[in-house]
Amino acid sequence: MKRDFLSIGDLTTKEIESLLIRAMELKSMQKSGVEFHPLKGKNLGLLFEKQSTRTRLSFEVAIAQLGGHSIYLSPNQIQMGRGEDIRDTAQVFARYLDAIVIRTYDHPMIEEWARYSTIPVINGLTDLHHPCQILSDLLTILEKKGRVCGIRMAYIGDGNNVAHSLIEGAALMGMKIRIATPGGYEPDKAIVERAGILAKETGASIEILQEPSEAVKDADVVYTDVWTSMGQEKEEEDRRGIFRRYQINRELMNRAEEDAIIMHCLPAHRGEEITEEMMESPRSVIFDQAENRLHMQKALLEMLMR
Ligand code: CP
Ligand code: NVA
Repeated sequence: MKRDFLSIGDLTTKEIESLLIRAMELKSMQKSGVEFHPLKGKNLGLLFEKQSTRTRLSFEVAIAQLGGHSIYLSPNQIQMGRGEDIRDTAQVFARYLDAIVIRTYDHPMIEEWARYSTIPVINGLTDLHHPCQILSDLLTILEKKGRVCGIRMAYIGDGNNVAHSLIEGAALMGMKIRIATPGGYEPDKAIVERAGILAKETGASIEILQEPSEAVKDADVVYTDVWTSMGQEKEEEDRRGIFRRYQINRELMNRAEEDAIIMHCLPAHRGEEITEEMMESPRSVIFDQAENRLHMQKALLEMLMR
């Protein structure tokens, strides 16, 4: 049976724990120069409708390091751009490839792909979720803080795809997450409700607030993302005003734990959601986060494609 990865909620707590352990093993193997090719002869498709630096690079390098091959496509390069049905495209892709990573707008579109595809479909970001990002972020938290369960995280900014996957990750891993967004930009209610039910089993807590300084109180991790996501460019000017107070800066970080780390999935807009100073501060683990995309993609591909 093929297995898809469309949201963090597709995994169990145990599976996430196994992926974290495996990613650490694969990382240390790579650092010590051990070659390992379990996916020799396998082909990974990447179908990206939005731009990407990290997700594309990390998947392409990950499959290459595991001995496989990747093919990058955008919808307008293939017949889909001229109206070929997703149902047909998905079935044809499955005749050539062993798994596919899709980055698109509408989340239901990737669900449709998954329904018609007989190979694993991996969500490389939709408007609703960014699960691969959060899997590797959990790895960064584990490395920096020595644990994930019980960690207090403050997320400052837009209740977007990254926030949704963080909420699901926190719920499954027993984290205490506070989300601070301006009114009207809160995360999706249904996602928060479902995560709330999971949280009861793991000891996690999820709080939705409006005040950034309240959210960061006692936080071990302070996380942010862009104010304007891909596809929302028309709202950029308005959002700059609305989100002005939702910035990671020195004053806000002074209210968090002294050893609190700063996280950002990137790309960042220095001077908007995070100051130049905080981006470069010793508390920032942002570039380790970016590196860990590679190690976690390898663990994920191994699990889904082997
Ligand atoms: N964080 C992330 O997914 O980056 P890209 O958009 O560059 O892939
Ligand atoms: N929320 C951002 C994340 C980019 C990795 C976006 O969707 O554009």
